Amino acid sequence: MSIKVTSKYPSNIALVKYWGKYGNQLPCNASLSLTLSKAFTEVELECLPKSSKAVEIEYFFEGQPNPAFGERVAKYAGAQPEFAELLNAYALQIHSHNSFPHSAGIASSASAFAAITAALYRAAHPGSELLSDRIMSHLARLGSGSACRSFYGPYALWGELEGVQDSSNEYAIQVTEIHPEFRNMKDAILIVESAPKEVSSSKGHSLMKDHPYADARFKDANRNALEMVATLKNGDFSSFISITEREALSLHTMMMTSRDYYMLIRPKTVEIIQKIFQFRKDTTLPLCFTLDAGPNVHLLYPEKIQAEVNEFLSDLAKDTESIIYDESGTGGITLNYMNGKA
Ligand code: DP6
Repeated sequence: MSIKVTSKYPSNIALVKYWGKYGNQLPCNASLSLTLSKAFTEVELECLPKSSKAVEIEYFFEGQPNPAFGERVAKYAGAQPEFAELLNAYALQIHSHNSFPHSAGIASSASAFAAITAALYRAAHPGSELLSDRIMSHLARLGSGSACRSFYGPYALWGELEGVQDSSNEYAIQVTEIHPEFRNMKDAILIVESAPKEVSSSKGHSLMKDHPYADARFKDANRNALEMVATLKNGDFSSFISITEREALSLHTMMMTSRDYYMLIRPKTVEIIQKIFQFRKDTTLPLCFTLDAGPNVHLLYPEKIQAEVNEFLSDLAKDTESIIYDESGTGGITLNYMNGKA
């Protein structure tokens, strides 16, 4: 018998950032993200006969063997009792590809670990449905924190927040009350530089451990997350802009002020941000930027102002390597299960 599973999960962009973790992948503060739709990872998992007792996972990214990521996945999967039987019975071969260029300022570990977790779960429980989103989100979080937010859309909240029912450090939840103003968001990702990051997010998280501003940052982020939940409900765009931009700058400030300081933004990043400020001032249009852990700028705006933003985007295109046009999504999945002769 051979089992083959395919799954497809979107990435997400944090509006309130997860930066700093403790224990077994628990966040030091709550984070809130916009789920994307065009940026996704597709995974094909094949279960093959095995001879040894060891965990055997071979990982191919876009057709090329990726032993380093394979090891991370093996370590993750090997630690989950959910997958123990599967790993005992089979050698796994995983092929994955992203719909977006590598290092494009889109968190690939979010979509990858969401897709890998779903595929592993399905292969481990042939014939059964996926567990609830909450349990899947919990499992995926153990692989990569940001992955736990990719199970919902258009907005997901991860981290315990006083006053928000069901919020938890263990898994993400859907942000349910969304004002029409924020239901159809666009994300134009302005690629300033597509070279791989010099410093990994894992290193960045660990630098928060003895960061001089850590406590203030975690408190501020929780306040921002709570304010963002209220903002998404009441439709106040100026509050959305203020929280989102403060959070992006706060994330990069943490990098620049850690003991082992570093800087991921580039002169072009700053130039584009200044242009966004100016354009917003001139037009009073509701749009803003955010940054991931890299130099590329995400321009966020509601779909209804697309026509007004088009010209601005063609002007920005001169400052960028390329632009990826994405939008909010539902975090849905596509999953096939095949059981029979390969
Ligand atoms: C800047 O989820 O990649 O994108 O849990 O170590 O896999 P691990 O980290 P990861 O960190 C994401 C950091 C961020 C902010 C965010 O997505 O909230």
